[in-house]
Amino acid sequence: MRRFDKHCVVVTGGASGIGECTTRAIVAEGGCVVIADLQEERGRALVEELGAAAAFHHTDVTVEENVAGAIAFAEKNFGPLTGMVNNAGIVGAVGSILDTSLEAYERTMAILSRGVFIGMKHAARAMKPHGRGAIVSLASTAGVMGGLGPHIYTMAKHGVVGLTKSASAELAPSGIRVNAIAPGGVVTPMTNALREDGDPAATAEFIASTSPLGIPCVPEHIAAGILFLLSEQSAYVSGHTLVVDGGLTTGGSFSPFFEEPAATLLHAGQRTGG
Ligand SMILES: NC(=O)c1ccc[n+]([C@@H]2O[C@H](COP(=O)([O-])OP(=O)(O)OC[C@H]3O[C@@H](n4cnc5c(N)ncnc54)[C@H](O)[C@@H]3O)[C@@H](O)[C@H]2O)c1
Repeated sequence: MRRFDKHCVVVTGGASGIGECTTRAIVAEGGCVVIADLQEERGRALVEELGAAAAFHHTDVTVEENVAGAIAFAEKNFGPLTGMVNNAGIVGAVGSILDTSLEAYERTMAILSRGVFIGMKHAARAMKPHGRGAIVSLASTAGVMGGLGPHIYTMAKHGVVGLTKSASAELAPSGIRVNAIAPGGVVTPMTNALREDGDPAATAEFIASTSPLGIPCVPEHIAAGILFLLSEQSAYVSGHTLVVDGGLTTGGSFSPFFEEPAATLLHAGQRTGG
Protein backbone atom coordinates (compact mmCIF):
# COMPACT_ATOMS: atom_id res chain seq x y z
CA MET A 1 0.00 0.00 0.00
CA ARG A 2 1.49 3.34 -1.04
CA ARG A 3 0.90 6.54 0.92
CA PHE A 4 -1.41 8.14 -1.69
CA ASP A 5 -3.21 5.08 -3.08
CA LYS A 6 -6.89 5.98 -3.69
CA HIS A 7 -6.15 9.69 -3.18
CA CYS A 8 -7.57 12.32 -5.53
CA VAL A 9 -5.84 15.69 -5.21
CA VAL A 10 -6.22 19.02 -7.02
CA VAL A 11 -3.02 21.08 -7.19
CA THR A 12 -3.54 24.67 -8.32
CA GLY A 13 -0.49 26.04 -10.10
CA GLY A 14 0.55 22.40 -10.55
CA ALA A 15 2.33 22.99 -13.86
CA SER A 16 5.45 24.67 -12.46
CA GLY A 17 7.83 24.91 -9.51
CA ILE A 18 6.54 23.71 -6.14
CA GLY A 19 3.18 22.64 -7.63
CA GLU A 20 4.82 20.57 -10.35
CA CYS A 21 7.11 18.89 -7.83
CA THR A 22 4.14 18.17 -5.54
CA THR A 23 2.19 16.67 -8.44
CA ARG A 24 5.09 14.38 -9.36
CA ALA A 25 5.54 13.29 -5.74
CA ILE A 26 1.84 12.45 -5.19
CA VAL A 27 1.68 10.43 -8.42
CA ALA A 28 4.93 8.64 -7.50
CA GLU A 29 3.26 7.56 -4.24
CA GLY A 30 0.14 6.17 -5.89
CA GLY A 31 -2.20 9.20 -5.99
CA CYS A 32 -4.10 10.90 -8.80
CA VAL A 33 -3.74 14.62 -9.45
CA VAL A 34 -5.58 17.27 -11.40
CA ILE A 35 -3.23 20.09 -12.36
CA ALA A 36 -5.34 23.26 -12.21
CA ASP A 37 -3.26 25.92 -13.90
CA LEU A 38 -3.26 28.67 -16.51
CA GLN A 39 -0.19 27.22 -18.22
CA GLU A 40 -1.85 24.83 -20.66
CA GLU A 41 1.22 23.69 -22.60
CA ARG A 42 3.37 23.00 -19.54
CA GLY A 43 0.50 21.32 -17.70
CA ARG A 44 -0.39 19.05 -20.61
CA ALA A 45 3.27 18.09 -21.15
CA LEU A 46 3.46 17.02 -17.49
CA VAL A 47 0.28 14.94 -17.86
CA GLU A 48 1.75 13.30 -20.96
CA GLU A 49 4.81 12.35 -18.92
CA LEU A 50 2.96 11.14 -15.80
CA GLY A 51 0.24 9.14 -17.58
CA ALA A 52 -3.29 8.21 -16.49
CA ALA A 53 -2.85 9.28 -12.85
CA ALA A 54 -2.66 12.95 -13.86
CA ALA A 55 -5.00 15.25 -15.76
CA PHE A 56 -4.99 18.92 -16.67
CA HIS A 57 -7.84 21.39 -16.14
CA HIS A 58 -7.40 24.93 -17.46
CA THR A 59 -8.06 27.02 -14.35
CA ASP A 60 -7.78 30.61 -13.26
CA VAL A 61 -7.90 30.49 -9.45
CA THR A 62 -9.45 33.95 -9.34
CA VAL A 63 -12.56 32.64 -11.11
CA GLU A 64 -14.84 30.68 -8.80
CA GLU A 65 -16.45 28.60 -11.58
CA ASN A 66 -12.99 27.54 -12.81
CA VAL A 67 -11.96 26.19 -9.39
CA ALA A 68 -15.30 24.47 -8.81
CA GLY A 69 -14.94 23.01 -12.32
CA ALA A 70 -11.44 21.67 -11.58
CA ILE A 71 -12.71 19.90 -8.46
CA ALA A 72 -15.75 18.44 -10.29
CA PHE A 73 -13.42 17.28 -13.09
CA ALA A 74 -11.11 15.62 -10.54
CA GLU A 75 -14.00 13.78 -8.85
CA LYS A 76 -15.38 12.60 -12.21
CA ASN A 77 -11.97 11.27 -13.26
CA PHE A 78 -10.49 10.00 -10.02
CA GLY A 79 -13.20 9.69 -7.33
CA PRO A 80 -13.96 11.73 -4.19
CA LEU A 81 -11.61 14.62 -3.50
CA THR A 82 -9.19 13.75 -0.68
CA GLY A 83 -6.71 16.63 -1.01
CA MET A 84 -6.55 20.23 -2.19
CA VAL A 85 -3.31 22.18 -2.60
CA ASN A 86 -3.88 25.92 -2.98
CA ASN A 87 -0.51 26.66 -4.52
CA ALA A 88 -1.01 28.96 -7.54
CA GLY A 89 0.80 32.21 -7.06
CA ILE A 90 2.70 35.19 -8.37
CA VAL A 91 5.01 37.71 -6.73
CA GLY A 92 2.64 40.52 -7.67
CA ALA A 93 3.02 44.17 -6.75
CA VAL A 94 6.55 45.21 -5.79
CA GLY A 95 8.09 48.50 -4.66
CA SER A 96 7.30 51.14 -2.10
CA ILE A 97 3.86 51.26 -0.48
CA LEU A 98 3.83 54.93 -1.47
CA ASP A 99 3.72 53.98 -5.11
CA THR A 100 1.69 50.75 -5.11
CA SER A 101 -1.33 51.15 -7.39
CA LEU A 102 -4.77 49.84 -6.49
CA GLU A 103 -4.74 47.87 -9.71
CA ALA A 104 -1.55 46.03 -8.73
CA TYR A 105 -2.94 45.51 -5.23
CA GLU A 106 -6.22 44.02 -6.54
CA ARG A 107 -4.44 41.72 -9.00
CA THR A 108 -2.04 40.41 -6.36
CA MET A 109 -4.77 39.84 -3.77
CA ALA A 110 -7.04 38.21 -6.37
CA ILE A 111 -4.54 35.41 -6.97
CA LEU A 112 -2.86 35.02 -3.58
CA SER A 113 -5.81 35.70 -1.31
CA ARG A 114 -9.15 35.31 -3.14
CA GLY A 115 -7.75 32.30 -5.02
CA VAL A 116 -6.96 30.51 -1.76
CA PHE A 117 -10.37 31.37 -0.28
CA ILE A 118 -12.14 29.99 -3.36
CA GLY A 119 -10.00 26.85 -3.28
CA MET A 120 -10.73 26.21 0.40
CA LYS A 121 -14.45 26.87 -0.03
CA HIS A 122 -14.97 24.45 -2.91
CA ALA A 123 -12.64 21.78 -1.54
CA ALA A 124 -14.55 21.86 1.76
CA ARG A 125 -17.88 21.55 -0.07
CA ALA A 126 -16.62 18.48 -1.93
CA MET A 127 -15.02 16.86 1.14
CA LYS A 128 -17.75 17.46 3.72
CA PRO A 129 -20.18 14.75 2.51
CA HIS A 130 -17.37 12.17 2.85
CA GLY A 131 -16.30 13.35 6.31
CA ARG A 132 -12.62 13.52 5.42
CA GLY A 133 -10.02 15.50 3.49
CA ALA A 134 -6.92 17.63 3.79
CA ILE A 135 -6.43 21.16 2.48
CA VAL A 136 -2.94 22.63 2.25
CA SER A 137 -2.33 26.23 1.18
CA LEU A 138 0.94 27.91 0.27
CA ALA A 139 1.78 30.71 2.65
CA SER A 140 5.38 31.92 2.89
CA THR A 141 7.86 33.13 5.49
CA ALA A 142 6.44 36.48 4.32
CA GLY A 143 3.21 35.25 5.91
CA VAL A 144 4.73 34.94 9.38
CA MET A 145 7.17 37.90 9.45
CA GLY A 146 7.51 41.34 7.92
CA GLY A 147 10.35 42.37 5.64
CA LEU A 148 10.69 39.08 3.77
CA GLY A 149 8.52 39.87 0.76
CA PRO A 150 6.78 42.70 -1.06
CA HIS A 151 3.98 44.46 0.87
CA ILE A 152 0.90 43.02 -0.79
CA TYR A 153 2.44 39.56 -1.02
CA THR A 154 3.13 39.77 2.74
CA MET A 155 -0.42 40.90 3.41
CA ALA A 156 -1.92 38.09 1.34
CA LYS A 157 0.29 35.39 2.86
CA HIS A 158 -0.55 36.52 6.42
CA GLY A 159 -4.18 36.16 5.29
CA VAL A 160 -3.54 32.58 4.18
CA VAL A 161 -2.21 31.76 7.65
CA GLY A 162 -5.28 33.39 9.25
CA LEU A 163 -7.84 31.73 7.00
CA THR A 164 -6.12 28.38 7.60
CA LYS A 165 -6.69 28.73 11.36
CA SER A 166 -10.25 29.99 10.95
CA ALA A 167 -11.35 27.36 8.40
CA SER A 168 -9.68 24.63 10.46
CA ALA A 169 -11.81 25.60 13.45
CA GLU A 170 -14.99 25.22 11.41
CA LEU A 171 -14.03 22.13 9.41
CA ALA A 172 -12.23 19.97 11.98
CA PRO A 173 -15.53 18.51 13.31
CA SER A 174 -16.28 17.45 9.71
CA GLY A 175 -13.03 15.47 9.52
CA ILE A 176 -11.37 18.01 7.23
CA ARG A 177 -7.89 19.18 8.21
CA VAL A 178 -6.74 22.62 7.02
CA ASN A 179 -3.06 23.53 7.12
CA ALA A 180 -0.58 25.86 5.44
CA ILE A 181 3.07 25.62 4.56
CA ALA A 182 5.43 28.59 4.70
CA PRO A 183 8.56 28.24 2.58
CA GLY A 184 11.46 30.66 2.59
CA GLY A 185 13.14 31.28 -0.77
CA VAL A 186 12.87 28.25 -3.08
CA VAL A 187 14.59 27.77 -6.43
CA THR A 188 11.65 27.84 -8.89
CA PRO A 189 10.70 29.69 -12.08
CA MET A 190 9.13 32.35 -9.80
CA THR A 191 12.36 33.18 -7.99
CA ASN A 192 14.47 32.75 -11.14
CA ALA A 193 12.28 35.40 -12.77
CA LEU A 194 13.35 37.87 -10.06
CA ARG A 195 16.84 37.86 -11.62
CA GLU A 196 17.49 39.65 -14.86
CA ASP A 197 19.52 36.71 -16.20
CA GLY A 198 16.93 34.15 -14.95
CA ASP A 199 19.79 31.79 -14.07
CA PRO A 200 18.64 28.99 -11.69
CA ALA A 201 22.23 28.30 -10.56
CA ALA A 202 22.65 31.93 -9.49
CA THR A 203 19.23 31.84 -7.77
CA ALA A 204 20.30 28.70 -5.89
CA GLU A 205 23.58 30.32 -4.86
CA PHE A 206 21.78 33.42 -3.59
CA ILE A 207 19.21 31.40 -1.61
CA ALA A 208 21.98 29.25 -0.09
CA SER A 209 23.84 32.41 0.95
CA THR A 210 20.79 33.63 2.92
CA SER A 211 20.03 30.26 4.52
CA PRO A 212 21.20 29.27 8.02
CA LEU A 213 21.72 25.76 6.58
CA GLY A 214 23.90 27.16 3.79
CA ILE A 215 22.17 25.12 1.08
CA PRO A 216 19.50 26.15 -1.43
CA CYS A 217 15.88 25.20 -0.77
CA VAL A 218 14.51 23.22 -3.71
CA PRO A 219 10.86 22.33 -4.50
CA GLU A 220 11.41 18.78 -3.14
CA HIS A 221 11.95 20.24 0.36
CA ILE A 222 8.54 21.93 0.21
CA ALA A 223 6.71 19.05 -1.52
CA ALA A 224 7.84 16.76 1.33
CA GLY A 225 6.03 19.04 3.80
CA ILE A 226 2.94 19.31 1.62
CA LEU A 227 2.72 15.52 1.27
CA PHE A 228 3.09 15.15 5.05
CA LEU A 229 0.19 17.58 5.59
CA LEU A 230 -1.96 15.81 2.97
CA SER A 231 -1.27 12.33 4.29
CA GLU A 232 -2.46 10.28 7.25
CA GLN A 233 0.94 10.90 8.85
CA SER A 234 -0.42 14.29 9.92
CA ALA A 235 -3.82 12.90 11.01
CA TYR A 236 -3.82 15.02 14.20
CA VAL A 237 -2.43 18.24 12.68
CA SER A 238 -4.86 21.04 11.73
CA GLY A 239 -4.83 24.83 11.70
CA HIS A 240 -1.04 24.70 11.57
CA THR A 241 1.43 26.59 9.39
CA LEU A 242 4.51 24.47 8.80
CA VAL A 243 7.47 26.80 8.28
CA VAL A 244 10.10 25.26 5.99
CA ASP A 245 12.89 27.83 5.85
CA GLY A 246 16.05 26.19 7.22
CA GLY A 247 15.56 28.03 10.51
CA LEU A 248 15.63 31.55 9.04
CA THR A 249 12.61 32.94 10.90
CA THR A 250 13.44 31.25 14.20
CA GLY A 251 16.67 33.12 14.73
CA GLY A 252 18.85 32.68 11.69
CA SER A 253 22.32 32.99 13.17
CA PHE A 254 23.58 32.23 16.66
CA SER A 255 24.59 35.31 18.65
CA PRO A 256 28.36 35.41 19.39
CA PHE A 257 27.41 36.95 22.74
CA PHE A 258 26.57 33.48 24.05
CA GLU A 259 29.49 31.56 22.60
CA GLU A 260 31.87 31.89 25.60
CA PRO A 261 30.90 30.13 28.84
CA ALA A 262 30.45 32.68 31.60
CA ALA A 263 29.81 31.78 35.23
CA THR A 264 27.26 34.58 35.58
CA LEU A 265 25.04 32.96 32.99
CA LEU A 266 24.70 29.80 35.07
CA HIS A 267 24.79 31.23 38.58
CA ALA A 268 22.86 34.46 38.99
CA GLY A 269 24.46 36.90 41.47
CA GLN A 270 27.90 35.16 41.57
CA ARG A 271 30.27 37.45 39.76
CA THR A 272 33.84 36.34 39.03
CA GLY A 273 36.86 38.58 39.33
CA GLY A 274 35.20 41.57 40.84
N1 LIG B 1 9.47 30.10 -4.78
C1 LIG B 1 9.52 30.64 -3.58
O1 LIG B 1 10.58 31.13 -3.11
C2 LIG B 1 8.30 30.65 -2.71
C3 LIG B 1 8.46 30.97 -1.35
C4 LIG B 1 7.34 31.00 -0.54
C5 LIG B 1 6.09 30.73 -1.06
N2 LIG B 1 5.96 30.42 -2.39
C6 LIG B 1 4.62 30.17 -2.89
O2 LIG B 1 4.57 28.89 -3.51
C7 LIG B 1 3.59 28.90 -4.54
C8 LIG B 1 4.19 28.34 -5.81
O3 LIG B 1 5.25 29.19 -6.24
P1 LIG B 1 6.43 28.72 -7.21
O4 LIG B 1 7.65 29.33 -6.72
O5 LIG B 1 6.35 27.25 -7.43
O6 LIG B 1 6.01 29.52 -8.53
P2 LIG B 1 5.93 29.13 -10.09
O7 LIG B 1 5.85 30.42 -10.82
O8 LIG B 1 6.99 28.15 -10.46
O9 LIG B 1 4.53 28.37 -10.18
C9 LIG B 1 3.32 29.04 -9.95
C10 LIG B 1 2.25 28.42 -10.82
O10 LIG B 1 1.02 29.10 -10.52
C11 LIG B 1 0.34 29.30 -11.74
N3 LIG B 1 -0.61 30.43 -11.62
C12 LIG B 1 -0.34 31.74 -11.45
N4 LIG B 1 -1.46 32.46 -11.43
C13 LIG B 1 -2.48 31.57 -11.59
C14 LIG B 1 -3.89 31.70 -11.66
N5 LIG B 1 -4.50 32.88 -11.58
N6 LIG B 1 -4.64 30.57 -11.80
C15 LIG B 1 -4.03 29.35 -11.90
N7 LIG B 1 -2.71 29.17 -11.88
C16 LIG B 1 -1.95 30.28 -11.71
C17 LIG B 1 1.44 29.59 -12.76
O11 LIG B 1 0.98 29.37 -14.09
C18 LIG B 1 2.51 28.60 -12.32
O12 LIG B 1 2.37 27.36 -13.00
C19 LIG B 1 3.09 30.35 -4.64
O13 LIG B 1 1.89 30.50 -3.93
C20 LIG B 1 4.19 31.15 -3.97
O14 LIG B 1 3.74 32.36 -3.45
C21 LIG B 1 7.03 30.38 -3.22
